[in-house]
Amino acid sequence: MASIWVFHGPNLNLLGLREPEHYGSRTLAEINQELLRIANEAELNVECRQTNHEGVLLDWIQALTPADFLILNPGAWTHTSYAIRDAISAVKVPTIEVHLSNIHAREAFRANSLIAPVSIGQISGLGAEGYGLAMRYAIAYQGKREKV
Ligand code: DQA
Repeated sequence: MASIWVFHGPNLNLLGLREPEHYGSRTLAEINQELLRIANEAELNVECRQTNHEGVLLDWIQALTPADFLILNPGAWTHTSYAIRDAISAVKVPTIEVHLSNIHAREAFRANSLIAPVSIGQISGLGAEGYGLAMRYAIAYQGKREKV
């Protein structure tokens, strides 16, 4: 069973084609491959998933436990979904919120994240590298818990 989960929300399947000036040129498959490489090196299991359906993401989050770790790019649901916020809070899964673009430097509606208050932290604006940094944090976090 994976202990680190990477969930990508709506429209992130279009990475590589979608507004590269905001989201860069790497595809989701390339990003996921790099995350798998980093996690495998650390001998931790990771599973990456993407959905365009909010209810599907809710079901995935509800299936997690506090022993898991979640790296989440909620896409536009960041700004709209009280349901995703509540699911993370209910399950108590440690979560890092990742955005490719700097959501604080774009349209005003993007600056508000409903997910940030229930996350350990937010990485925003570092492009695809942000996922790698989140993964390194997740590995350290899971490693520390194993020792306790
Ligand atoms: C995004 C930022 C969101 O505002 C946007 O709706 C996305 C992508 C990012 O990764 O920069 O879909 O989460």
